[in-house]
Amino acid sequence: MQFFDRAYEGDPPWELGRPQPEFVALEAAGEIRGRVLDVGCGTGENALYYALRGHPAWGIDFAPNAIRRAREKGAARGSSAHFEVASALELDGLHTTFDTVTDCGMFHTFLDEHRPVYARSAASVLPPGGRCFILCFSEEEPTDWGGPRRVTQAELRATFTEGWAFRWIRPARFETNFAGVTGRAWMAALERVVPGPPRRPASRTAHRVRRRTASSSSAPRG
Ligand SMILES: C[S@@+](CC[C@H](N)C(=O)[O-])C[C@H]1O[C@@H](n2cnc3c(N)ncnc32)[C@H](O)[C@@H]1O
Repeated sequence: MQFFDRAYEGDPPWELGRPQPEFVALEAAGEIRGRVLDVGCGTGENALYYALRGHPAWGIDFAPNAIRRAREKGAARGSSAHFEVASALELDGLHTTFDTVTDCGMFHTFLDEHRPVYARSAASVLPPGGRCFILCFSEEEPTDWGGPRRVTQAELRATFTEGWAFRWIRPARFETNFAGVTGRAWMAALERVVPGPPRRPASRTAHRVRRRTASSSSAPRG
């Protein structure tokens, strides 16, 4: 947390002073619906944008400096967006729910053990039918400049299992505040689903019928 809080004493490379274009495009496409929570919101540009577009919007971040700056921006712009210092790993503590959760550049900061905790935490604020969008650095981004962890599609799919369905994952780009410098990313679109009943192995009868069908179809013909 200290790393991020100190970063917000200045302008870190991800601080654009405007929303991340991938989320502007999602909003324009109608993918961002209803009440929106931007987790790891930094100085709040995405949440401020959702509010400007008419969504009841919240942003949370565990870095107090980020939330202080988000609130200052909100006040200066007359925004209705609401900002709180909170952990993305304990979203049930917000005691409210949303229709859409967005994560712009936070998932790739987590340690392995944080990932399943995050999946459960996000599920706690999204009822079935709710949507979640995650923009994270992909393994296709070169590592020669350092930067955060790279994430594969398989890692995303392994994290969001019970109670989640992937609608799609597509290649995307992070913009930075270095002119012309962008990073390769995945944009993952998930939906909360009601977990189905546990899968039972096929019954013995069905197995015998399948075997009989298979042996009769392999009998010599003609
Ligand atoms: C790379 S920054 C992106 C900030 C912002 N989404 C943006 O695009 O400008 C990652 C953010 O996630 C926040 N963060 C990381 N782990 C968090 C956690 N467990 N709970 C809340 N915020 C977290 C950091 O404080 C930081 O603001």
